[in-house]
Amino acid sequence: MTEKDFIPTQFSNKIEKGEVTWQAPSNIALVKYWGKKENQVPANPSVSFTLNNCKTTTKLEFQKKSKRSDSFDFELYFEGKKKEDFKPKIQQFFERIELYCPFLKEYKFKIYTENSFPHSSGIASSASGMSALALCIMSLEKELASNDLKNEDYFNQKASFLARLGSGSACRSIEGELIEWGEHKDIQGSSDLFGIKYPFEINEVFKTFQDTILLVDKGQKQVSSSVGHNLMHGHPFAKERFAQAHSNLDKLKQIFASGNLDEFISIVESEALTLHAMMMSSNPYFILMKPNTLEIINKIWKFRESTKTPICFTLDAGANVHLLYPEMYKEKILEFIKNELVAYCEKGQYICDQVGKGAEKL
Ligand code: PMV
Repeated sequence: MTEKDFIPTQFSNKIEKGEVTWQAPSNIALVKYWGKKENQVPANPSVSFTLNNCKTTTKLEFQKKSKRSDSFDFELYFEGKKKEDFKPKIQQFFERIELYCPFLKEYKFKIYTENSFPHSSGIASSASGMSALALCIMSLEKELASNDLKNEDYFNQKASFLARLGSGSACRSIEGELIEWGEHKDIQGSSDLFGIKYPFEINEVFKTFQDTILLVDKGQKQVSSSVGHNLMHGHPFAKERFAQAHSNLDKLKQIFASGNLDEFISIVESEALTLHAMMMSSNPYFILMKPNTLEIINKIWKFRESTKTPICFTLDAGANVHLLYPEMYKEKILEFIKNELVAYCEKGQYICDQVGKGAEKL
């Protein structure tokens, strides 16, 4: 597949107005995407768990304009209220996808969006938000194209392709449970353009894996991920880092199949710390972890050592800590969180999530 395959040729149907609603999940990367080339092409492949509870629900209302105009025409409502400050991001998204969705300027849109998780939780909503909107746009395209829109695979691929142009990691938020994005020589079907369902064996243990997100810092982060990605250009360790991501994906093939949790833990934690090491060694350098992030990491290591429970952490581009563990340890680990980790969370808050099946049309 190339970009050209996503440029539609003709639409057979005329649609005056309508609405569609999609609910799309967030995802948490195990091998991290950090660094990109032109057009949201990742500098290295990544793999993520799709989450089940942290979701964005987006309703798209569309009404055909009497005359096609030369601008994108949309209103944006977040949790029921008009939200002007989200508009530039959507405007930019529309500009990036126009070539692939040439009908956008023919419609007036109202976009109603809300998250299942608190807005100021430090959880990025761009992955679930962009994928939900991309899916709504694909539903409109499907109606316009009717029989032309090949099949479900094409629908999901193009939705992922569009979401990627909104926010890179959003392309991993269309399907479940394990999604790979970025060309890798030993992963057939892998692509820089969209995420694919991980094509190899996945041990049952991973299909119900838990992710408890400890909200260490709910504020806006000081450095955005687009700035961070850009700092990988000319980064002294970039080449080694990108090679390491390829090799970690190689190693995970065996681990996903066998369910070897010790090896899983060592790759996942190394990936999280490497991501932050890249931030700390870029120019300019920056630190997104907070003292409580480190307190929690140390507590996890002690708990794992003393109880032999297979729990590990991963981090996004922020201070919050994702605790990953098999479902069978849920009770024991929630007890550990309440007794020892809640104290390090802002207002004692955390969110229980788990691996999920992907986006749903409502
Ligand atoms: O999708 P972006 O551009 O916000 O980048 C996200 C990057 C990380 O969350 C840090 C890693 C990843 O692979 O999700």
